[in-house]
Amino acid sequence: MDDGTWWTVGELAHASGVSVRVLRHWDALGVVSPERTPSGHRRYGPAHVTRLYRALALRRTGLGLRQVAALLDREDPDPAATLRAHLDDVEEDLRRRSRLRDRLVAALGSAGPDQLMKVIETMTMFEQYVHGYRPEESTRLADQAGALVELLHGDTRFQPGERVLEMGCGVGAQTTALASRSPHTHFVSADIATDSLKSASGRVAAAGLTNVEFVEKDVFALPEPEGGFAEASFDHVFVCFLLEHLPAPVDALRRLRRLVRPGGTITVIEGDHGSAYFHPDDEAARAAVACQVTLQRHAGGDALIGRRLFPLLHEADWSDIAVSPRTVYVDGSRPELAESFTRRTFTAMISGVREPAVAAGLIDARTFDAGIAALRRTAEPDGVFCYTFFKAVAHRRTSAQGAVGARMPARK
Ligand SMILES: C[S@@+](CC[C@H](N)C(=O)[O-])C[C@H]1O[C@@H](n2cnc3c(N)ncnc32)[C@H](O)[C@@H]1O
Repeated sequence: MDDGTWWTVGELAHASGVSVRVLRHWDALGVVSPERTPSGHRRYGPAHVTRLYRALALRRTGLGLRQVAALLDREDPDPAATLRAHLDDVEEDLRRRSRLRDRLVAALGSAGPDQLMKVIETMTMFEQYVHGYRPEESTRLADQAGALVELLHGDTRFQPGERVLEMGCGVGAQTTALASRSPHTHFVSADIATDSLKSASGRVAAAGLTNVEFVEKDVFALPEPEGGFAEASFDHVFVCFLLEHLPAPVDALRRLRRLVRPGGTITVIEGDHGSAYFHPDDEAARAAVACQVTLQRHAGGDALIGRRLFPLLHEADWSDIAVSPRTVYVDGSRPELAESFTRRTFTAMISGVREPAVAAGLIDARTFDAGIAALRRTAEPDGVFCYTFFKAVAHRRTSAQGAVGARMPARK
């Protein structure tokens, strides 16, 4: 950015998670056409950035780029006809998926190893990381962080000069909130996903923060024998929405404990999809949410992990564990939260698993879509939506505390 207002194509790509190639292509098609500097370089102003996010929103409905450009330019003479044509495409897509579903059911019903291999290939769509690494997911994580920042981070502060590890930082959705609240703390934000780290670094730079360093690391490869990731090399660790994706969360928590100096802390934030309830209640909506929980379990994670934070931390030998539930409550008096949390965070996350859920035969496409519509409906002025996150803070024992600090309450 040259004066705080204009962005180069590279800066915007970093900050938005949309690649330079895509931005150039969108420029060529008139979706988002920036100004040019005298030397011919693209430069984006606030209006272009706003248009980019509107274009991303329209793209999420599946519309083609030319349709998006025409709608944004208000040049489409009949937007309803465009949307009807789009609906036809969506219905054709549903029919195609229904055929795929039938094939999967048939394959699973047969014992032939060849057919089962086909099933396994389909399942790899969600094997590693159920939310995926698509640009839509980056936008969702950013929306999520924006809406929840006070609720989740309001009471998190680190001391000047301390060194804090943020493990599983993703696209940096929480990083800016953390680093701006503790501006004299040094943050090391790590993730296994290289592309996410690039986006995170762009986001932090765009926020003008200089107290964060990004590093590619796998939590299961730590601590390292020496260097910046050796035993006791951090004052504190912070993880948010990481444990829910890990096959061995206790192992990860033990490794993180070894990275922290005695007396240092861990802060963990996780959701729990079992805590989602809403009005109007809807069976299809609950079925769609259950698909996400099942897929995450198939991928080795746990979408209901929030309720397990205390026992997990205890098992990993953290002490003085304090867990506090943080409930997001949304009704008609909070239309902005209904949009940012109910629709753009929770419903967007559930709708992101539509394809693997349908392909895996967990649900039929019609029911899933009805469930998504019902979830969106809860964000209407007469709807209500509730969801609880769990935040835990725990300490690494000092040698004076001995081997056993926190104890599980005795069973009566
Ligand atoms: C749901 S994202 C959360 C990102 C960020 N903490 C936030 O709240 O927006 C989970 C992140 O964990 C990362 N992750 C998954 N397994 C990991 C591992 N073994 N080591 C480090 N990061 C991992 C993923 O790449 C992803 O970026």
